[in-house]
Amino acid sequence: MADTVVRLARRPAGAIMPEDFVLAPVDVGPLAEGDVLVRPAFISLDPYLSIQVYGRPVRGVAFAPGQAMLSRMVGRVVESRHASLREGDLVLGMGPWQSRFVVAGSALERLEIQLDRPELHLSVLGSSGITGWLGLHRIARIQPGETLIVSGATGTIGSIVGQLAKRHGCRVIGIAGGPQKCAHAREKLGFDTCLDHRDPAFAERLRGTEAQVYFENVGGAVLDAVLPGLAEHARIALCGMVAHYDTAREHRFHNLHLLLEKAIDVKPYRVSEHAGHHAAAMADLAAGVSAGDVMCDHTISRGLDSAGSAFVSMLAGKSLGKSLVKLDE
Ligand SMILES: NC(=O)c1ccc[n+]([C@@H]2O[C@H](COP(=O)([O-])OP(=O)(O)OC[C@H]3O[C@@H](n4cnc5c(N)ncnc54)[C@H](OP(=O)(O)O)[C@@H]3O)[C@@H](O)[C@H]2O)c1
Repeated sequence: MADTVVRLARRPAGAIMPEDFVLAPVDVGPLAEGDVLVRPAFISLDPYLSIQVYGRPVRGVAFAPGQAMLSRMVGRVVESRHASLREGDLVLGMGPWQSRFVVAGSALERLEIQLDRPELHLSVLGSSGITGWLGLHRIARIQPGETLIVSGATGTIGSIVGQLAKRHGCRVIGIAGGPQKCAHAREKLGFDTCLDHRDPAFAERLRGTEAQVYFENVGGAVLDAVLPGLAEHARIALCGMVAHYDTAREHRFHNLHLLLEKAIDVKPYRVSEHAGHHAAAMADLAAGVSAGDVMCDHTISRGLDSAGSAFVSMLAGKSLGKSLVKLDE
């Protein structure tokens, strides 16, 4: 069967649309010494990809029209000319949104633990889980008994952060888009409460909360509404600001002065810059998953032809938990 790839069709003028992506035939080419041929099982759809789609680099990479989309994937080696990777090995790494691709074996991580559900390597037992754990425990240094507010509460990182904080003996207030997501945060994720950021009374409901920690995934109007609800000397783990990735959508802040007036400690961080703590994070996440304290929802679309619309859907807040594209075996 012919191989296919998803390319960026054009630079989006406004909001990203499914038509900004195109599925095209591709030739995977021969393997050089040290290369492997990989068939992705799951491709990760992440908010930061939108920054690259708009042409701004993230870790030196931005997409030009015509270029293949590239993100994290978990897949199987189908052919190998690499000394320590064999056919059938489960691998994790960056890859194009492509049915099969050739890559240097040295760029991939062989997954020693063969999970029944390999998609977990892209969510709770992967970079998203580690990002949440680091923000909570190393950046905000949350303590038992403290109150946490977390935005993007039913998204990948937000949902994991809230569950980790509950496990640590904290009170958790989630923020999510819509009553269904909020009910999910309370009933399935075990958060103490969850506020809908589309509710006209949203900002009012946050006042007087006096939370010690805010885990930020969103920015914009959500950040503005949270600031009055933070305690003096509160800590903000600044993980993501997805509301700002489309720079055409500007937000005028009203409450930034509270950062100074309450002496709030804002700490931005990147998961890649805390590699020394990844093993500890993974061990704690794995313990939480096996104890049944921490889970992650997955919104899975099938086939490369669904990737563009699934990505747009995730950015519009229509997915729950980790958004992935599953490719046929
Ligand atoms: N610091 C790091 O090293 C690092 C690493 C990975 C990811 N990140 C960042 O962490 C954040 C969360 O990532 P994730 O993978 O867990 O994404 P995600 O939460 O699974 O998906 C994004 C969610 O953000 C919410 N959202 C989008 N636009 C919004 C807006 N304008 N206002 C309010 N909410 C909006 C939507 O949820 P609702 O429907 O609930 O609004 C959407 O489902 C992102 O900002 C990402 O870029 C940072």
